Amino acid sequence: MEGLTTERGRMGARGIFITLEGADGCGKSTQAALLADALAARGREVVRLREPGGTPISEKVRALLLDPANAEMAPECELLLYEASRAQLVRQVIEPALARGAVVLCDRYYDSTYAYQAGGRGLDDALVRRANELGGCGCAPDRTLVLDLEPSVGYARATAGGADRMEAEGLAFQERVRAAYLRLAEQEPGRVRVVDALGEKGAVTDRLLAACADLWG
Ligand code: TYD
Repeated sequence: MEGLTTERGRMGARGIFITLEGADGCGKSTQAALLADALAARGREVVRLREPGGTPISEKVRALLLDPANAEMAPECELLLYEASRAQLVRQVIEPALARGAVVLCDRYYDSTYAYQAGGRGLDDALVRRANELGGCGCAPDRTLVLDLEPSVGYARATAGGADRMEAEGLAFQERVRAAYLRLAEQEPGRVRVVDALGEKGAVTDRLLAACADLWG
């Protein structure tokens, strides 16, 4: 959220917080690994995380969120569970890592909540933004890289081995998710950058690196 004064901002921490976003099947996990390796090769400590999850409590919440048996889950319950998982990850892992100067690379963060729960589910934008302030504990990414791919390509890829509870929402849902990411990039061009996810893996990693190169001065 632009304009939010974060605890880190006030304390002048040395770490860098990068988040990776995109609709299901955009190749995020593969790129997170490649990007983490490329950053570590520059001699920085890289802490690679994925949301929801990353702490024992957050992993339990993740299991609840993705279990296809929980089909009756209300959108408000879903929103609060993603935020609960996130708050624990921020307090337990992200803030300490940034405080010691690490590069934190998180596969999904609160822009996923905006894209999926506001964009996909249709929950009120302002409400989701407020929830993100709480779940993110005021910890804003320095850069958010959105891997962009035609939803039909990503969706076919993501569901080839079966669908989790979110993927079961279908292709139209993924199209709304993508549109929400593109809106975010227009609203916050300084933080949120759209990167073409099509092409050879190494070429996509190079695009991601270029889109955050300025963070290293
Ligand atoms: P995961 O298997 O980690 O998917 P991916 O590899 O695509 O990241 O499942 C996470 C799912 O949860 C994914 O469909 C996106 C969704 N999600 C939300 O709906 N809201 C959120 O805030 C987050 C973090 C994820």
